[in-house]
Parts: sequence; structure tokens; C-alpha cells
Amino acid sequence: MEKFVISGGLNLSGKIRIKGAKNSILPILAGSLLTSERVEIKDVPDISDVKVMLKILECLGVRISWKEDLLILEPGSLYTSEIPETLMCEMRSSIFLMGPLLGRLGKVKVSYPGGCDIGPRPIDLHLKGLASMGVKILEENGCVQAEAKTLRGSDIHLDFPSVGATENIMMAAIYAEGSTLIHNAAKEPEIIDLQNFLNKMGAKIKGAGTDTIKIEGVKSLNDVNYTLIPDRIVAGTLVIAAAITRGELILENVIPEHLEAVTAKLQEAGVEIWEEQDTLHVRGGNIKAIQSVRTLPYPGFPTDMQAQTMSLLTLAKGNSTIIENVFDGRFSQVGELKKMGARISVQGRSAIIQGVDQLKGAVVNAPDLRAGAALVLAGLSAQGQTIIKEIHHIDRGYEKFEEILQQLGANIKRVGAQDENF
Ligand code: EPZ
Repeated sequence: MEKFVISGGLNLSGKIRIKGAKNSILPILAGSLLTSERVEIKDVPDISDVKVMLKILECLGVRISWKEDLLILEPGSLYTSEIPETLMCEMRSSIFLMGPLLGRLGKVKVSYPGGCDIGPRPIDLHLKGLASMGVKILEENGCVQAEAKTLRGSDIHLDFPSVGATENIMMAAIYAEGSTLIHNAAKEPEIIDLQNFLNKMGAKIKGAGTDTIKIEGVKSLNDVNYTLIPDRIVAGTLVIAAAITRGELILENVIPEHLEAVTAKLQEAGVEIWEEQDTLHVRGGNIKAIQSVRTLPYPGFPTDMQAQTMSLLTLAKGNSTIIENVFDGRFSQVGELKKMGARISVQGRSAIIQGVDQLKGAVVNAPDLRAGAALVLAGLSAQGQTIIKEIHHIDRGYEKFEEILQQLGANIKRVGAQDENF
């Protein structure tokens, strides 16, 4: 398996353009199944989760092609509603293929989703919402079979503002008879992106970004050409890369309001951040401890930035606390950061971080996508060499991460498993 080898201690500097959002393109690719017309999507990130999702679409009968970085999908007539288990297990996001396939074919068979190992990833809210629309659901041997002669509009209250459940139900409701209301809907910017994409194809959806989303059933959707919003989590990760290396970066193609909870917290930690339209300027310096970082659904502090923020706070002057409220067990980076000299103790949902003067390079394993990114950030700052194994987790959500960081002055390289020097 490939590894990253990092020699830390260099300040990052330079300019980088942020690409399209992973957590937009994945539901949007699922949503493309709702039409038999041509779908063109711009600014698609070159990450492995996209490659997996495109393989799934091809298995279902979608013709895929590229014109430079323009992705072209021709869903035509799908020839199966069963998603190969191997592909399903590679990534949790495949679960929101249920909605579009039920809408388009009236049936779907999926296995329980894979994806990051960040605590239990139940799908009860997805299934409850679909069932209320008249979907018959059979769960057995790790698979979910769902069928609906016709989908009925429904009034759905989510127990938790689940991003995936909101997206799945939104897409299932498009061809339902009547209207569907989703209460306590997730409000992430990627939900608005999905609504805008679907409406551009002829759907009738209102309210994305608020607690209540209304979807009026339609008979068909047409072709579309769409550009994704930028990835706020990749942007946030690079903000911390500047901060943790006491460097100075300019991030282009950013929507600052999507990052407000993150930039506000990092400014509390002493990071200088200022914005100009769609550009963020960041300058690192001494890092101050933050009494509490609490992850919450949007617009609260994003759970996807928790691990990266923890890396920064390991070097703060004083003690900080992080409370992970969204996922159970999303502290997989703690053990690996402690190998680098970080002082962190975990009690339930809380992690207490005692700042140290410096981290030391070590051999560590990326446990999942964002914990892996957090280890890269720690390695950029650490004294000496850090070797990060299992970097396929990082490739799921960061396009050519080492090349971007090299451009910004980092000493990082990707080595193959056969390279026994590391
Ligand atoms: C999406 O995952 C994102 N993934 C995640 O990003 C992100 O961390 C998460 O939303 C929260 O913002 C994509 O968009 C592809 P949830 P999702 O359903 O939809 C519980 C990354 O790093 N829950 O909002 O799976 C669940 O267990 C990834 O880019 C149920 O209990 O997240 C969790 O505790 C990681 N039952 C909480 O809700 C359900 O049916 C939030 O999950 C569904 C979820």
C-alpha cells in the first residue's frame, strides 16, 4: 500500500484553487440517475470516491465520458437496479442511490453501506422516510431490498438532520404522487447544491438550507449542465495547513460563508483569516488554546473538520476541549497523534488536548479520511520525518493531496509499498 513521507517544519506559502465538493458530487451523481437525458457536471474533483460512484453508475447502465474536466453522463435506459456489493461496501455514500433508483425503476437492492469507520453508520432514518412514501423494505443477510409500485408524497420528520437521509428522501420524492415535506432536514450547503442541480433538471424543490424542504412530484426530468460548489472541507483543511506550519496561503474559489463556523473558531485560536469575495487569505502564528470546539450539524462546527482542528490544537498554548456530537467514536486520530507526542485524553464524546511545544515525526496509520488528513497536517509541522500508511483513505476525499502541498512548499512524497526505504 502507498505511503506519504513528510519532512516537517517548513512554512507553507502560495495560492491554490479549491475544486468541487466531494459531498456535493456524490449525491449529484446519484441524482443524475433520475433522468435519461444527458448530464454534464463541471469542476468534478479527481478523488477515489468519485471513481467508485462512477463505476457503480456504469454497472447500472450509465455511459460515462470526459471532455477535459467536464464529466458527461448519459443515463439512457438503466438495465439493473442491483448495486454490486463490492462497490457498495467501498463507500457509504452509495446508500443514497436508493432514492433515485426507486424513483426511476421502482425497485433497488443494496448492501449495508461501507465507508469510513467513524462509528456506527445506521440507515434507519433513510428507510423510515422511504417507508412513509409507500416503499416496501426487506432487510436480510446484510442487504436491503426496496420496492414501490408508486411513491406517495409524505410528511416526514427526521429524528436527526441526517445529510444522507435528507438527500435520499429528496430524490425519492421527485417522481412521487403529490408533495413531500421533510422536517428537521439537514441544512448543509451540499443539500442546496443538490436542490439546485435537480431543479435545473426540472424538479420542483424548495427550502434546501432551511429546516423544511418541500418536493412536488413531477413526471420527468431533462438534461442539465451544472457546476459544483467548492469543497468547504478541503478549504478548511488547507486553512489549517497554513496555520499549523505558520505559513501564509491564498485559497481561491471559496464560498466564505460555508466556512464561517470554522474560520470563527480558528480566529479564536489566533489564526489570521480574511476574505475577499471568493478568496480566503490565511496567515499562521502562535496558536491559542480553545476552551471548546463542539461539532454540530450545519451551520455549526462541521464534524468533518474535527480531526484536522485537533492536530492544530495539539500545538496550542494551553488546554483545549473538542466535543464530537455528530458521530460516535470519531476520535480515531487520537492514538496516532499521541505517537507523534501529542497529549490528548478522551472521555466519551470529549477530547482534552494539552498543548505541547512540538510534535515529533513518527510512523502512523491513516484510520479514515479526515483522521488521515489530520495526520498529514501534524506531519507538516512535526520535527523530523513522518510516514503515513493506509493513505488510500485520504485519496477518497483529497485530490492529489501531496502534489498540492508540494506546490505550497511542503516536503512530502508518495511512495509505493515496494519502496522498503520507508
Ligand atoms: C454526510 O454523511 C457526509 N458524507 C459526511 O462526510 C459528514 O460527516 C456527515 O454527512 C455529517 O455532516 C457525504 O455527504 C457523502 P449523516 P452521512 O447521515 O450522510 C446518524 C466526510 O468526511 N444517522 O448526517 O452518512 C449517523 O450515525 C464524510 O466527507 C442515523 O442515526 O451523515 C451520524 O451519527 C464523513 N441514522 C449522524 O446521524 C441514519 O439513518 C449524522 O449522519 C442516518 C444517520
